Amino acid sequence: MLASVSAIKVTDYKFYVNGQWKESQSGQTIDIRSPYLYEVMGRVQAITKEEVDEAIGFARGAQIEWAETSLQERAKYLYKWADELVNMQDEIAEIIMTEVGKGLKDAKNEVVRTADFIRYTVEEALHMHGESMKGDSFPGGSKSKIAMIERVPLGVVLAISPFNYPVNLSAAKLAPALIAGNAVIFKPATQGAISGIKMIEALHKAEFPKGLVNLITGRGSVIGDYLVEHKGIDMISFTGGTNTGAHLAKKAAMIPLVLELGGKDPGIVREDADLVEAAKQIISGAFSYSGQRCTAIKRVLVHESIADELVGILKGEIEKLAVGSPEEGNTVVPLIDDQSADFVQGLIDDAIERGATVVIGNKRERNLIYPTLLDHVTEDMSAAWEEPFGPVLPVIRVSSDEEAINIANKSEFGLQASVFTKDINKAFAIANKIETGSVQINGRTERGPDHFPFIGVKGSGMGAQGIRRSIESMTREKVTVLNLSL
Ligand code: NAP
Ligand code: G3H
Repeated sequence: MLASVSAIKVTDYKFYVNGQWKESQSGQTIDIRSPYLYEVMGRVQAITKEEVDEAIGFARGAQIEWAETSLQERAKYLYKWADELVNMQDEIAEIIMTEVGKGLKDAKNEVVRTADFIRYTVEEALHMHGESMKGDSFPGGSKSKIAMIERVPLGVVLAISPFNYPVNLSAAKLAPALIAGNAVIFKPATQGAISGIKMIEALHKAEFPKGLVNLITGRGSVIGDYLVEHKGIDMISFTGGTNTGAHLAKKAAMIPLVLELGGKDPGIVREDADLVEAAKQIISGAFSYSGQRCTAIKRVLVHESIADELVGILKGEIEKLAVGSPEEGNTVVPLIDDQSADFVQGLIDDAIERGATVVIGNKRERNLIYPTLLDHVTEDMSAAWEEPFGPVLPVIRVSSDEEAINIANKSEFGLQASVFTKDINKAFAIANKIETGSVQINGRTERGPDHFPFIGVKGSGMGAQGIRRSIESMTREKVTVLNLSL
């Protein structure tokens, strides 16, 4: 049974514009229900289009002065924000847990990781330098010409984040945008908005200039298109589902876009792999936070000669997973909502109907799906292709590396992949052929460390994140040419 908190204090949260917390003129709020307490924990404002216009107007005004401040000065604000997040870590972690059902320890790690992310972002920016080019290196060019190339901000960045890392994936957009001299309009996932508000409370304590960061709340389905098409937005950094990202990309015209979207990361297990170690990595990759990570391992492609043994070890590891309330530190926790649980159950049911074997799991209590291992999954099953964002792991048996690569690449997604083998040459040969942003050799798929480039290709995204790449994506090159009279 899930633990429950005896009395939740339901709070009405305001949105944040021009350095002030405000109630919306709409008079409407959105209930935020805890995914495991099944009660309303708070309400956020459903803001109007006029309020969107106002927020963007303030951002545009504030950005002009902010771009003029020195890097050292911007750095001070960001460092202060990181410190305030650390000071508020317990309070914020509690909200993350209650709002998105993440275990308290992971929630706390998310806040601390975010502070580290902000600090590293500052340090990276402080050490980014422009370049210069001499004119005479091109045929017919002249020594009298020297180009100075520097990076300048884009203006107002629209940051749209998903529910599953409501603080970290939001700050991963705000910090690079701000250090680079941009202003920000931040639209958190509605389920996750209260965590985002807490993160902005920490930012408010750092006393950034008014209007530089504005947090607006409201359903993406209601205000999303208006925001994305708004002429006052100069760049969009979006993390979320592939369908939402594809929709947004069609709407946003002629502005830079970074999209980090869904995944169907394969764990490829070769005949020669260390199966015990591979299984540990696969289980941790697949089931942490109930598989609600874009980088979760979402299918296993295993050589048929060792499949029985691997499945046996995976089953043993799954039996050790703690299932239940995030308040008790469980790994597998209720999914974000009933609809998500229905979707995962649908994938399991379809696979069983088409001949897959349930090794363990296929048990459900409301939106809590027990960790489920499906064996003998075949290509005609939805579980082979769809992103579950839930605790179900399909095992597909293959007869060769080529078959594994082929099935891996048939996916619409291309975020990450893992290859488990003792043969480093084979590992590189497979990694070279896999169509994903990253390939992990003998490790689980994951985003961090956060200064590594993080890239989704095909249906998994466009452009790159990772600290330096994010700063680059939120700036553009500007060339000033000096014409000397020699
Ligand atoms: P989602 O439903 O796509 O929502 C993401 C964000 O988009 C939310 O803020 C949402 O607002 C907003 N949105 C919805 N409709 C919009 C529109 N028409 N225009 C603009 N914004 C709109 O995704 P999610 O359920 O929060 O997150 C899960 C998905 O994100 C998974 O597919 C996962 O793989 C992916 N993800 C990818 C990465 C990565 O880095 N590759 C990281 C984390 C998650 P509302 O909440 O108000 O609808
Ligand atoms: O959900 C997507 C996140 O980018 C995954 O981050 O690999 O650190 O869990 P993570």
